[in-house]
Amino acid sequence: MVSGAKVSVVVPTYNERENIDELLSRIDASLNNVDYEVVVVDDNSPDGTAERVIELSSRYPVRLVRRAGKFGLSSAILDGVKVCSGDYVVVMDADLQHPPEVIKDLLRYAGGCDIVVASRYVKGGGTAGFPIIRRVISLGATYMARVLIPQARKVKDPLSGFFLVRRELIEKTELAVPSGYKTLLEIISQHSNLKICEVPYVFQARVRGVSKLSRKEILNYVKQLLMIMPDYYKFAVVGASGVLVNLGVLWFLSYALLIQHFISSIIGIEASLINNFIWNDLWTFKKRRFGKCWLRLLKYHVSTAIGTLAQYTVSQIAYYAILRESITSQALGILVGFIANYLISKKYVWTRPKQTTL
Ligand code: GDD
Ligand code: MN
Repeated sequence: MVSGAKVSVVVPTYNERENIDELLSRIDASLNNVDYEVVVVDDNSPDGTAERVIELSSRYPVRLVRRAGKFGLSSAILDGVKVCSGDYVVVMDADLQHPPEVIKDLLRYAGGCDIVVASRYVKGGGTAGFPIIRRVISLGATYMARVLIPQARKVKDPLSGFFLVRRELIEKTELAVPSGYKTLLEIISQHSNLKICEVPYVFQARVRGVSKLSRKEILNYVKQLLMIMPDYYKFAVVGASGVLVNLGVLWFLSYALLIQHFISSIIGIEASLINNFIWNDLWTFKKRRFGKCWLRLLKYHVSTAIGTLAQYTVSQIAYYAILRESITSQALGILVGFIANYLISKKYVWTRPKQTTL
């Protein structure tokens, strides 16, 4: 760590009264020659966690942020960060599953890294007494993060709840899911060039109190992944759903209602355009919904017009001149429409400048 730097330890709590004494005393013992403060963010725990923190504030450099109700882990952490004054922020749980002695290891790397993660999945790390089922869930969840969030691939344990981060970096973070559990994932997904280091630690078994990780939290995690995955993944998923809608509607019109191909084809195409527009508007580009909705819908039609025309033309030719089969003809149209969009974008939008001859 850069000498003279100050460390703020942010600890979210909900019903952790039984753990708070040992937590503060072990943090104090392991940070004996470091300038530090602890910020406990308590969500009005009925067990009196906050009162105990106030009592202990005469013994340790600890401050309390009290919130009116249980508003979730990530938002608690960021509310704590707002009152921090340290150069570095350490985020950890109150229940001693994150051993306070590891903070020292995190600090050792603080100078050269943007984030230092206490990691269960690097050599020397692990989980003590995790039942096999929780181990599988944890590994599955980690794998999902690595698939959907490219930045998470740089970290062996992107779901760790125990990490150190420069204060400006965590201050700038905007939470996609404030009630979520995975704050580290929110931070790393918002920056592309972070230097992330990992130090091993063993996640301990909980001795006192109960875990707040419920079934609801698992659903929340999936929601969090879906919100923070990159735009282009979302766009691709929406495009794939559009293909299904296009062919599904076409199938229904052509084969259930026996409507002629030149009509069902255009309705299928329009249904997929509307489908794609809705999902891109509500999901992919959720944060870019400026101005009138109908105007965006209109612009979307204009921007896809050439591809759409190519798709329709090919579908008609394929059907009436060759195949006489709706689904295959339309699928061919979709493929050509896709290629047309690609070529037009490449040739006319992202054009290489012409070489000038002397
Ligand atoms: N203020 C506040 N508000 N605190 C909360 C809330 C809340 O809504 N929900 C949980 N906490 C506090 C708990 O009191 C505890 O100090 C900490 O957040 C973690 O809660 P646990 O319920 O003990 O979580 P866990 O042990 O299942 O999971 C933890 O470890 C995993 C592995 O590192 C979390 O840190 C996970 O994010 C992490 O993946
Ligand atoms: Mn815990």
